[in-house]
Amino acid sequence: EIEEQVETLLSELTLEQKVGQLNQVNADFATGTAVGDMDVEQGILDGDIGSVLNFADLEEARKFQKLAVEESDHGIPLVLALDVIHGHRTIFPIPLGEAASWNPEMAELSARVAATEAAANGVQWTFAPSVDVGRDPRWGRVMEAAGEDPYLSGEISNARVRGFQGDDLTADDTILACAKHYVGYGASEAGREYNTVDISETNLREVHLPPFEACLEAGVGSVMNAFSLYDRIPASSNEALVDDLLRSELGFEDLVVSDWNSFGELVNHGVAGDLRDVAQACIEAGSDVDMVSGAYVTELVELVEDGVVDESLVDQAVRRLLTVKAVLGLFEDPYRYFDEERQSQRTLTDEHREAAREVARESQVLLKNEDGLLPLDDGQEVALVGGLADSATDMLGAWRAEGNPDDVVTLRTTLTDRIENLTYTEGSDLDGSVSDEQLEAAVESVRSADVAVVAVGERYSQSGEAASRAHIDLPGDQRALLEALVETETPVVTVLFNGRPLALNWEAEHVPAILEAWFPGIEAGPAIADVLLGEYNPSGRLPMTFPITEGQIPIYYNHLKTGRPAEDADVDLTEPPANHGEKYVSRYIDIPNEPLYAFGHGESYTTFAYTDLSLDAATITAEETLSVDITVENTGDRAGTEVVQVYIRDVIGSRARPVRELVRFENVDLDAGKSTTVSFELTTADLEFWTADDAYAAEPGEFEVQIGHAADDVTAVETFELVE
Ligand code: IFM
Repeated sequence: EIEEQVETLLSELTLEQKVGQLNQVNADFATGTAVGDMDVEQGILDGDIGSVLNFADLEEARKFQKLAVEESDHGIPLVLALDVIHGHRTIFPIPLGEAASWNPEMAELSARVAATEAAANGVQWTFAPSVDVGRDPRWGRVMEAAGEDPYLSGEISNARVRGFQGDDLTADDTILACAKHYVGYGASEAGREYNTVDISETNLREVHLPPFEACLEAGVGSVMNAFSLYDRIPASSNEALVDDLLRSELGFEDLVVSDWNSFGELVNHGVAGDLRDVAQACIEAGSDVDMVSGAYVTELVELVEDGVVDESLVDQAVRRLLTVKAVLGLFEDPYRYFDEERQSQRTLTDEHREAAREVARESQVLLKNEDGLLPLDDGQEVALVGGLADSATDMLGAWRAEGNPDDVVTLRTTLTDRIENLTYTEGSDLDGSVSDEQLEAAVESVRSADVAVVAVGERYSQSGEAASRAHIDLPGDQRALLEALVETETPVVTVLFNGRPLALNWEAEHVPAILEAWFPGIEAGPAIADVLLGEYNPSGRLPMTFPITEGQIPIYYNHLKTGRPAEDADVDLTEPPANHGEKYVSRYIDIPNEPLYAFGHGESYTTFAYTDLSLDAATITAEETLSVDITVENTGDRAGTEVVQVYIRDVIGSRARPVRELVRFENVDLDAGKSTTVSFELTTADLEFWTADDAYAAEPGEFEVQIGHAADDVTAVETFELVE
């Protein structure tokens, strides 16, 4: 039925109107648009605009829609888009933080709430989830995605898509999702934003593509081109990426939208001379909607009339956009997303707040907890230090959609409510600078307290798009502040607010307890206090490796083995090499290879032990399934959640294989002293890789199953063989 409706509409449109549909503009001229001096309202009226991003409010949305539907010649509704990345008004933890929950249910929940609010506020299309695999914490956009691992990213991103889109896109609480940025953008060289990407096909297929495939499995309705190059051709005009890989090979039939002016940037990349070349290259590659570059709207008509571009390519792109509009129910009722009553009923509800707190609790990672310093004891005198502890605006993180600092409960507010003996001193400005007066006051209050809770980290604007940092340590003088506070000999708990892994070598050595809170969203205070006060036992695990220092970057757990692996040489990497044998291995001569905190790391207020790993077969064939059982015991004295992590190692492959790869994980809740057996089923799909034959296959041979608490803490290892 939709197909018929779309074909009828398409046949009624002129070439100009079809091209107009493919043009997306920015409603907010403050942030600019590249579409010449096109006035949005006039453009809609003239049929030159098919979708709008960043509209102001329901009133503006309704005004635009009315122009399109009631006053333009074709009467086709607009689709309205906004970057709803980690909440609409109810802001959740930043996506990287949420991924630290290692709990797809949390990702689905936050996207569900975000969609409910967004759809009640006029939004029909979000540009999320971002699924870029990030292995370079200098790159600010690691905060937007799900970390360094293709499998974890896939599981989390799949859940996000299901959360945004629900089962029915015509429902009034679901919105169209967009998997971005297709593909490889996370590999920007040296972590510098918008920089060159140069990755092999194997790397593309094994590292960067899988999360997109996971979104496709969840039925994602749109995909956004990356700004970056693949094989020296911009992603937006890369036929091999879009038409061949995404559409023909992976079977994606829906909409591809450019990133902001990513079409126009072909000129800067030096692969197109002008917008005419740009429009031709992008439509031929299979990219449908032009976000703000204006290339399509200014050039496509002529390109078709000159016989350079086949009109069927334009038709195909318009067909995909009209299908989106039909699927969203816009042809039945173009105003269905603009309802003030629904807006007030569904925005920032108590239930949404509760969800934000739950996700924020699960997102925190206890990096370190010497001598059980946390949780805090009742009655302790606590000195709270740090401007960030009271900075509502920073708690929202970057990409906060309609997030409002007034909705935020800060850490200071909650701790003031919940701790009787609490003093607060600022310690540092939000940019990390510390004056003599601030330092003195902080030292004095910490000296007379039983314990200090010190909030340090980045400002929200120091991560996200266009926020690459060459130095990823604590900004400003925050290290000096910590040094002075540690010197008081009052035990120090550090709460970190940040959008990326930081280099915290000094802190890890000198500060007894470190809690990674990321940017937790509007329920920052309650969620962190729940952990500090022991009402929630932290269960988050790192979705990205924390390096010792920037010199180790890029650093990730599933690296290849190298020809001279230091681990095989049995060398103490913490010491400089003393002889030839210690030197000529893959290592640094001044720091260890190992990161500060590995992927999967995270402590708890209890402890867990793994025993009795058993595989139900020593050999399997390609058609068979391997059952893996492991017993996990809570060996501590309080209930807790362990994230059981299952890794595979393919011992010999036609291409070099990683030392381990995550293939399954499960969150297991266990009371003190209790144990349980967790079972996993593995199939050959888990063993496949991009082989030397340039095909996906599982190659016969030996495999290791490694299970444990973190990528650097796999305590159970068994082997099996895949036979023909
Ligand atoms: O969706 C974003 C994208 O991730 C970065 N450039 C701008 C787009 C629209 O706001």
